[in-house]
Amino acid sequence: MSSIYYDPYDYEIDANPHPVWKRMRDEAPVYYNKKYDFWAISRFEDVLQASLDANRFSSAYGSVLELMQDEPNTSPMMIWKDAPEHTQLRKLVSRAFSPRRINELEPRIRRICARYLDPKIGEKGFDYVGEFGALLPVMVISSLLGVPEEDQDDIREWTDALLHRDPGETGDTDAHENISQKLWGYFGQYIEERRKTPSDDMISLLIAAELKLENGKSQKLTDVELLSFIGLLSGAGNETVARFLGWSATALARFPEERAALVEDPTLIPNAVEELLRYEAPSPVQARRLKVDLSLHNQRIPKGSKVLLLTASAGRDEREYSDPDRLNVRRRIDRHVSLGYGTHFCLGASLARLEGRIALEETLARFPEWEVDWEDTEMVHTSTVRGYAKVPILL
Ligand code: HEM
Repeated sequence: MSSIYYDPYDYEIDANPHPVWKRMRDEAPVYYNKKYDFWAISRFEDVLQASLDANRFSSAYGSVLELMQDEPNTSPMMIWKDAPEHTQLRKLVSRAFSPRRINELEPRIRRICARYLDPKIGEKGFDYVGEFGALLPVMVISSLLGVPEEDQDDIREWTDALLHRDPGETGDTDAHENISQKLWGYFGQYIEERRKTPSDDMISLLIAAELKLENGKSQKLTDVELLSFIGLLSGAGNETVARFLGWSATALARFPEERAALVEDPTLIPNAVEELLRYEAPSPVQARRLKVDLSLHNQRIPKGSKVLLLTASAGRDEREYSDPDRLNVRRRIDRHVSLGYGTHFCLGASLARLEGRIALEETLARFPEWEVDWEDTEMVHTSTVRGYAKVPILL
């Protein structure tokens, strides 16, 4: 029998990692990769327990494999912090993510969908990710932050340009540096204005909020912390939703009877969002550093090891889900780990679900059927998200 090899940087494996993840779940539930010196756990229950065990599985050294450090990092982003700093920050920003504030975005999200989808009615087809899925979340995060509508196109263009790489380009160029200055200059000025003239938006709320420290004192967020939070929201909320929509377009084309069920009964769409998240997790790998020696499935993982929690493999674990390789929009899903679990559970989960639901409702109402031009699809290869950059659909 061939030995198992899993490597998150290998494009060929990344195109379809499900067969190797299945073998890992069955034959090597605690897998070690010597080349990159990481461990990986792939079964649902193990990923769930590790996510819940933030004291032993630390995020403070980074949660992206190639960016992990030997010492706890000094980034102000809460996704890379453990308790108590994480708890304080999370408590503070959660107030700005109240259900009321998120639900208020519904009409705006619908308008953005209509703006991108209406011109496609009567067309032969379009790139569902490039011309819709990747544009929507950037506009939504701007709305969430309170950026005036007339500035939102600029923010989206700058964010796009920052992510764009010409073939062969790996790092940042001078052009990226210029745009980055424009984007952060804009937000810097925006924070300054809101400090002077607060309004009812999320940034004003965060400016006014106070961190309760362990020594009983309280402290306000600095400009650097506010900017880093805006960076975290766009980092965590743009690429993930874009990949989710790419997976939706492709999975519903592969399972046309499931799509037809949603067209016939749109009340199934919220459950379909959960099923799609389970079926192809847009953020498939969360890295942690182990703070103690651990024994799991008769395998010793030494203290200090980097451990990958394979959330996307957990979603296909037959120990948790029956017939997991089949998309079933009526499946009863009591739980999944595609939005994380426990301490670092996705802060934007309700927004992600809202965007997913409205995007699918608005898409299916206009385009009940489509084919995918598979030859012309393109995938994004990063170690944090997995999915399509381009999904040409034929109407
Ligand atoms: C389908 C879309 C999304 C997916 C699949 C997703 C997935 C995830 C996952 C797996 C985590 C846990 C990371 C970990 O355990 O290390 C996470 C955390 C996070 N997500 Fe999301 N996310 C999505 C959308 C969003 C949106 C729209 C926002 C913001 C508006 C957002 C903001 C965050 C933040 C701030 C965290 C860190 C929470 C913490 O450390 O306490 N996400 N997300």
